[in-house]
Amino acid sequence: MSDDLLKKVISHAKEYGFVFPSSDIYEGLSAAYDYGQLGAELKNNIKDYWWTAMVRMHENIVGIDASIFMHPTTWKASGHVDAFNDPLIDNKDSKKRYRADVLIEDHIAKIEAKINKDVSKAAKRFGDAFDEVQFRTTNGRILDRQAQIDSINNKFKAAMDTEDLAAVKALIEDLEIADPDTGSRNWTDVRQFNLMFKTELGAVSGDSGIIYLRPETAQGIFVNFLNVQKSGRMKLPFGIAQIGKAFRNEIIARQFIFRMREFEQMEMQFFVKPGTQSKWYEYWKEARLKWHKALGFSDGMHRFHDHIKLAHYADAAADIEFNFPMGFKELEGIHSRTDFDLSQHEKHSGRKLRYFDPETQESYVPFVVETSIGLDRMFLATLSAAYKEEALEDGSKRTVMSIPAPLAPVKVAVLPLVKKDGLPEKARAVLKLLKLNHNVQYDEKDAIGRRYRRQDAIGTPLCITVDHDTLTDNSVTIRDRDTMIQERVSIADLADRVEEKVGLEQLFSDT
Ligand code: GAP
Repeated sequence: MSDDLLKKVISHAKEYGFVFPSSDIYEGLSAAYDYGQLGAELKNNIKDYWWTAMVRMHENIVGIDASIFMHPTTWKASGHVDAFNDPLIDNKDSKKRYRADVLIEDHIAKIEAKINKDVSKAAKRFGDAFDEVQFRTTNGRILDRQAQIDSINNKFKAAMDTEDLAAVKALIEDLEIADPDTGSRNWTDVRQFNLMFKTELGAVSGDSGIIYLRPETAQGIFVNFLNVQKSGRMKLPFGIAQIGKAFRNEIIARQFIFRMREFEQMEMQFFVKPGTQSKWYEYWKEARLKWHKALGFSDGMHRFHDHIKLAHYADAAADIEFNFPMGFKELEGIHSRTDFDLSQHEKHSGRKLRYFDPETQESYVPFVVETSIGLDRMFLATLSAAYKEEALEDGSKRTVMSIPAPLAPVKVAVLPLVKKDGLPEKARAVLKLLKLNHNVQYDEKDAIGRRYRRQDAIGTPLCITVDHDTLTDNSVTIRDRDTMIQERVSIADLADRVEEKVGLEQLFSDT
């Protein structure tokens, strides 16, 4: 995996209509993207897979769609007004803005790169006899560099824990960290920067009219806990799921759709009896990993990263990381959030947010286990794992997107072999049989080989070719995107064959 792959994915996504820069005709807007005609389909299919797995497959999970604007006290209660900050620093010469923690992390990454270079040099020198663990734990230069990293990490952690922003700036100066673009070391002080976007309600002037664009969808679920529990007569444990936009004024948004300022989340809060949260945390960790793995990406693309340093409200947390072109990065979080959010909303709203347990005849604030996945990150994971350039046996090349078939934006392409002799009409009749249940494309332009390549490039799992024999025997040729094998199939069997290949059901085969 490499930056090179990321560049290829970005340009392929634009060329074929998956993702465009936002406001492209005005040179784009940083960290905002538009999903094109194929991107919107792929996004909808990912949502559908998630919603089916979370809501339809669980009797005790329901889905809602809360508003983006919420009462401003919501964000005071959740802690976002006071603590949803990143440490920010400006370079006075370049006027560029950076996250202080990222500058320090990048500095550490450079030291790590030097360590890795020494290790690979030694590996080459010693050949088969090389013992990497021993080398790393005994080589003087490596130990010095590791000690430097540990010292930087300790100083940074101590400064952040005590909110000593002057110490963070001092660390940047001591390490002689320069603006990565210009080399200037003329820094401002470090400030905390709140990531929430503010706007104003039209009917109210002044500070009292300030509201926020939600930075997570989760709070829309917490404030509706009682509404849903009562109106749906839900019994613990139960979950509330939601898909929707979230907004964060990220200081540095980069790596395409990995980190954006406007993005979409698919979140589920699972309300449980206090004391049972560890069991449910483990359940959801496994269930969510299984959801990812059912898509059939190659082995080793996912891993767990258990958090050692926990947010003040959490008693356990882990990320599911994906092997993106930039390396392993967070794709989804599973968090055991205790009763923090509901208790905070009780305090700030004055309303009781409790569950009356008919078994124990007690009322209590439930604990919550949350699963939270970024839809855009899932989209990037799918695109980057699917992108392949293949050399074919006949010496030609093809670019193929091996998107898991149930997620593919176009499921079937129907292609008349030639543009005459009644084949287009027959092809359209075939298309009509399928289009109610699947996104199907009709294409009659260019030679059949070129049409196959175009469909490979957008990840269409099946191409159906209508030829002269079709007119007499009512059968067509089906070509599989991945194996390129072609098979003759009766039109009467087509709907079943297509469903078998592209239906969501195959992703739930062991549930
Ligand atoms: N309610 C919990 C929560 O929001 P988070 O770890 O801040 O937790 C959850 O975000 C997920 O949302 C992340 O795992 C990631 O997939 C996605 N996400 C967060 N910030 C993002 C951004 N700026 N751009 C795209 N996706 C983002």
